[in-house]
Amino acid sequence: MESVDNMSQLSAHTREEIDAWRAKFPEGRQRSAVIAALHAAQHQNHGYLTKELMEAVAECLEIPAIQVFEVAAFYSMFETQPVGRHSISVCTNISCMLCGGEQLLGYIEKKLGIKAGESTADHKFYLKVEEECLAACTGAPMMMIDHKYYENLTQARIDEILDSI
Ligand code: FES
Repeated sequence: MESVDNMSQLSAHTREEIDAWRAKFPEGRQRSAVIAALHAAQHQNHGYLTKELMEAVAECLEIPAIQVFEVAAFYSMFETQPVGRHSISVCTNISCMLCGGEQLLGYIEKKLGIKAGESTADHKFYLKVEEECLAACTGAPMMMIDHKYYENLTQARIDEILDSI
């Protein structure tokens, strides 16, 4: 039966996490737990979501799969294709752009030998296509790696950060 197969995509830990998020919302409002549930499923799957995982999340929350697909497609923090283990988001919005964000993005592309939107051959890094303002303008230029912010970047600082991962 398809539903059994889908649910088996989620680890016991992920299911527990999803149940805990679902319990935070009133009965019938479990749709509110979709973002947190997708985060848990993506984390379990090394940084990206598959169709089967998204269907499993929908079953777990007892909502139509389309409501899960929509959220995954809308928010930039969700990936629906295999990507490198460490996700790098370089902000190129106005404050960061004025402080050299685009040049730093170019520097990282050259250093890693990939273009924005690609992952390195060893699947270590994934350079996201474009980030909107990450609300750290006072620390421009900045980037986020695996949800951690790095601010006031220079090429030397980027070398230090990437080489330490
Ligand atoms: S413009 Fe880059 S953090 Fe705001």
